[in-house]
Amino acid sequence: MSKDTNSTNQSWGGRFSEPTDEFVAQFTASVNFDQRLYYHDIAGSIAHATMLAKVGVLTDEEKQQIVQGLNEVREEIEAGEFQWSVALEDVHMNIEARLTQKIGLTGKKLHTGRSRNDQVATDIRLYLRDEIDFIADEITRLQHGIAELAQREADTIMPGFTHLQTAQPVTFGHHILAWNEMLQRDYERLLDCRDRVNVMPLGAAALAGTTYPIDRDYTAMLLGFDRPSYNSLDSVSDRDFAIEFCAFASLLMMHLSRASEELILWASAQFDFIDLPDRFCTGSSIMPQKKNPDVPELVRGKTGRVTGHLLSLLTLMKSQPLAYNKDNQEDKEPLFDVLDTVKDCLRAYGDMVPALQVKAENMREAARKGFSTATDLADYLVVNGVPFRDAHEIVGKAVAFGIEHNKDLSDMSLEELQQFSHNINKDVFDVLTLEGSVSARNHLGGTAPTQVREAAKRVLEEINFRTSSNVH
Ligand code: ARG
Repeated sequence: MSKDTNSTNQSWGGRFSEPTDEFVAQFTASVNFDQRLYYHDIAGSIAHATMLAKVGVLTDEEKQQIVQGLNEVREEIEAGEFQWSVALEDVHMNIEARLTQKIGLTGKKLHTGRSRNDQVATDIRLYLRDEIDFIADEITRLQHGIAELAQREADTIMPGFTHLQTAQPVTFGHHILAWNEMLQRDYERLLDCRDRVNVMPLGAAALAGTTYPIDRDYTAMLLGFDRPSYNSLDSVSDRDFAIEFCAFASLLMMHLSRASEELILWASAQFDFIDLPDRFCTGSSIMPQKKNPDVPELVRGKTGRVTGHLLSLLTLMKSQPLAYNKDNQEDKEPLFDVLDTVKDCLRAYGDMVPALQVKAENMREAARKGFSTATDLADYLVVNGVPFRDAHEIVGKAVAFGIEHNKDLSDMSLEELQQFSHNINKDVFDVLTLEGSVSARNHLGGTAPTQVREAAKRVLEEINFRTSSNVH
C-alpha cells in the first residue's frame, strides 16, 4: 500500500488550499478494509456505465472503453498487482483512479450521475447478497447433517433435561432435531432479510437524485436487484439491511452457542455421551490426558463478538440525521467480521456434526438411572383411575424409596411398587422401560422413534425442495 498522502485529493481537492494532514488522511481512509468490495464495486460501475450509454449520456464507444478498463482493473486486483493507495481514501476512488490512468479522460466520465454515497450503499448490498446466498447454503448443509444423524439415532435413548436435571427420556435424534428447528427459523429469517437487501440505491446520487435522464429500472435489472429504492435520502443513509443481517446472525450464533454448550457438556468425562473426533479437538501442553472441545468452545465464544457488532451498528445509526454521514463508513468492519465469523462457525459445524460419535450405551444408562420414567408411572396410575395429583404424590414416594435403596423405578419388584398403590399391576413394567416411555409419546412433535424418523424425513424433503427449486 503506498502512503502518498501529501497531495490534495484528485477527486475532491479542487476547493482545498492545503494538502490533507497525513494523519487525517489515514484516519479517514477506508481502503484498508473496504477493498474487499472491489468485485461488486466494479460490477456496479459496469452496470452504471451500461445504463449511461443506453440513455445517451455516454457513447457506446466510451462505455466499451470503461467496461474493458474495469475488467482489466479487476484482473489486476485478483492477480495481486494492484497498488492500493491510502491517499485515494477508499475502494471506489482507487478503482476509478486506476481506470483513468488506463483509459484516460473517459475514465473520468464514469462517475456521471452518481456519488460515492449511492455507490457504497449499492456495493454493500451486492456484496451482502452474495454472502447471504453462501450462508443459506451452509445452513442447509448443516441441517442436512443433523437430519441424517437424527435418522441414524432415532432409537437412541438419552435423558431429556429441564433445569439440567434428568426429566424424561428422549431420543437423541429428537434432541438434535430441536437444533434443526432453530436453524430452520434462522434460514427463513435470512431469506426474509435478503428481500430487503436486494433493493438498489444507485441513482440517489449524493442525496437528492441526479439531473441526468437515468434509467434506474434498467440498472436494477442488470444487477439482479428486485427494484430500485423509492427515496433518495433514505437510499444513501439506510443501513437497516446490515443491522437486520446482524440480528439474524446474532440469533444464529446464539443457537450454535447453545448447541456448543451441550456438545461441551456431553463430551465431558462426567456425561460421556459423545466423542468429538480428534480432528476437531486439541490437547493440553501440561495435562497429557486432556482432549479439549475447542471448536464448540470457540463457536460459543465468538457469539459475543457477533452480538457486539449488532449493538455497535444500532448505536452507529441511532443519532444520524438524514442523509449520508461519514459515520456510515463505520458500518463495514462490524458487518465484515460478522460475515467472517458466521461463515467460519457454520463451516465448522457443517463438518463436525456428521462426524459426532454417539455413545448410546452411556446415554441409555444415564436415562435409566435418573428416575426419568417417573412421569410415565404417574400417567399409568391415572389410566388406572387415580387422580393425577394423587398419582404424583404416590410416584414421589416411590422415587424417595428408590433413592434410599439405590434403585431406579424399573429395578423395583412388583411388590415393592405395590406398597405405594394397589393400582399397580404387572403391566407397569411396559411403561417403566425407557423404550416404552419414548414410544408412547407418539404424536407430531413427540420423541417417539417413529416420529423422529418422520421429522427427519420432512427436513430432508424440505432441503431437497430448496436445492432443486434454487429458492434464493
Ligand atoms: N468510504 C465511504 C464509506 O464507506 C464511501 C462514501 C464516502 N462519501 C463521502 N461523501 N465521503 O462510506
